[in-house]
Amino acid sequence: MNPRFYFSTCQAGAEKAVKAEIAAEFPGLRFAFSRPGFVTFKEEPGNAMPLVLSRGIFTRLWGEVLGQTKERAGLPALLSLVPHGATLHCFDRDTFEPGREPEGFAPNGNVAAIMSQITGKEDPAPAVSGRPVVGSPVYDLIWVDDFHLFLGRHIHGAFMSGSPGNRMDLALPEGAPSRAWLKIEEALARFKPSMEQARIVLEVGCAPGGATTALLGRGLQVTGVDPQFMDEKVLSDSRFAHIRKPARFLTADELRDCNPDWIVMDMSIQPDEALPELAHVIKVLRNLYRENLCLRQGFLTLKLNDWKFAAEIPRYLERLESIGFKELHPVQLCSNRREFFVWAPRFE
Ligand SMILES: C[S@@+](CC[C@H](N)C(=O)[O-])C[C@H]1O[C@@H](n2cnc3c(N)ncnc32)[C@H](O)[C@@H]1O
Repeated sequence: MNPRFYFSTCQAGAEKAVKAEIAAEFPGLRFAFSRPGFVTFKEEPGNAMPLVLSRGIFTRLWGEVLGQTKERAGLPALLSLVPHGATLHCFDRDTFEPGREPEGFAPNGNVAAIMSQITGKEDPAPAVSGRPVVGSPVYDLIWVDDFHLFLGRHIHGAFMSGSPGNRMDLALPEGAPSRAWLKIEEALARFKPSMEQARIVLEVGCAPGGATTALLGRGLQVTGVDPQFMDEKVLSDSRFAHIRKPARFLTADELRDCNPDWIVMDMSIQPDEALPELAHVIKVLRNLYRENLCLRQGFLTLKLNDWKFAAEIPRYLERLESIGFKELHPVQLCSNRREFFVWAPRFE
């Protein structure tokens, strides 16, 4: 069988972490090509069936490479590989860290310009023909450089956005206290956690209040822990209470009115400092509420202040399990910078 190639898309800067996670899951694959936000791998000889990535954290999209062209004239032939009626997503690789795009930056602007020349349409919006359903193939036309385009195919998965490149179409609302609004909204949109039994949230690392704003906006009551100042609008909301101190100093007395259904964590300290602080908070809650503790779900951000911490992720996840968070779904969200997110839909 001929060699088969695969692609991973990721946040610009996460390529090393992507190579490491692919090497861990598929030791037989060889790294082939890399640009910021885009990496390919070679499988020789190719398996009968394409490999399916099961444990990607930094890989936003994983698929098979069907072809590539380095000249404009090759594009129609590349597009002819897309079956009639199939879902086609056209997108640019990531070129900037999330939130650091320059003024006037147009997401997917490169591929949109190329496609509009081909189709003669003025509309520069990236082509999406049909919404993908879970388990179905999606064709991906990926702008990598001027002029270098790849055509790939991925299988649409449960926690994917359905938008080109598995990105999330979210815009930070004007007046949101921080970009963390995007993180919690993206997590809720991807994982669609049950909101039925969610009423009270304990938010560890809540200042200035982007995530709190999103949670209050969804009708939840929030107790936030953070030594820093909160946004005035959040502070004046009667459903919000601020405990202004580091999480490691929280006491049972301070949590007497907060038996949380959810814990949201986003502290600007490295995981080996954040996890013991989280463990302390959980210990206080367990001692206080015992079998009446309501906690069910965790929405946890862990900072990778240095990319070298990515290699330690299995250990961080073990620690989260030992604290009580189960069925962990770790992922680098589109809105995450040098950090990753863990959704824990179960706590015991
Ligand atoms: C990325 S910001 C959090 C953003 C916030 N979730 C929002 O939505 O705006 C990180 C926060 O962690 C807080 N932090 C750092 N160490 C902490 C600790 N030990 N306990 C509680 N908060 C901490 C910082 O003060 C900072 O406000």
